[in-house]
Amino acid sequence: MFPLFLKRFLCNFIPVRSVRKRVRKRIVFAHYIKIRTRKCKFGYASYAGSGFGVSNKETTVGKYCSIARNVWLGPSQHPISFLSTHPVLYLDMPYGPNLPPECRCKFEREKPPCHIGNDVWIGINSVIMDGVTVGDGAIVASGSIVTKDVPPYAIVGGVPAKIIRYRFSPDIIEALLELRWWDLPIEKLKNLPFDDVPRCVEELRKIRAAEAASGASDTASAAK
Ligand SMILES: CC(C)(COP(=O)(O)OP(=O)(O)OC[C@H]1O[C@@H](n2cnc3c(N)ncnc32)[C@H](O)[C@@H]1OP(=O)(O)O)[C@@H](O)C(=O)NCCC(=O)NCCS
Repeated sequence: MFPLFLKRFLCNFIPVRSVRKRVRKRIVFAHYIKIRTRKCKFGYASYAGSGFGVSNKETTVGKYCSIARNVWLGPSQHPISFLSTHPVLYLDMPYGPNLPPECRCKFEREKPPCHIGNDVWIGINSVIMDGVTVGDGAIVASGSIVTKDVPPYAIVGGVPAKIIRYRFSPDIIEALLELRWWDLPIEKLKNLPFDDVPRCVEELRKIRAAEAASGASDTASAAK
């Protein structure tokens, strides 16, 4: 409703310093998240730091993703086989020289979008190239340029990014991909032993089994 500067100004009237600071921080954070989510599809609880950019609005970011500062998803391309890579050859430039429209070449700038899975952490100063899919649970190390798809739960790093290792053993990864904890309401997650992933898998299995049982009984009672 109010622009950011007005919200921040109104914060000055909160008398308690610690509350004032907290509210101001929340307002600024909410503002940046709003701007970022307008640029592409962001899943529940995902966030990005300042300097985040995305070129294709069809880009998708799953749930619970942490995207650090200065990360770019699918930077747009310039033509590399034309006389020049400069956009004057194919665009109506808002600044600088302009060619008559009939002299410009056709260049399709939009490439396939990136898809970032759920629970992905992308480190600071990283770039994910067009069309790359980063699997659920993956980590992109800081300063990486990711040019190829990243498998679920892999940690990749470098230029171009290579697999460093996997976060968990193959059986745990398989279980997590099947259980899809990120699709559960946060209320159901709150008592999980987060730092003990094999136990989390056990607990998640129980939650999913209880859901399936209640779903089955719902269906049975609906059939009566
Ligand atoms: C990748 C990361 C998560 C650490 O993972 P890890 O498996 O614990 O890594 P380690 O420190 O044990 O190093 C393992 C290997 O990865 C390499 N590595 C670590 N960070 C790397 C990076 N950013 N780029 C390339 N390689 C990296 C190490 O050199 C090491 O290589 P080696 O086995 O050849 O010696 C961490 O380095 C990182 O990049 N975190 C992101 C930090 C960030 O951007 N935070 C922003 C706030 S949201």
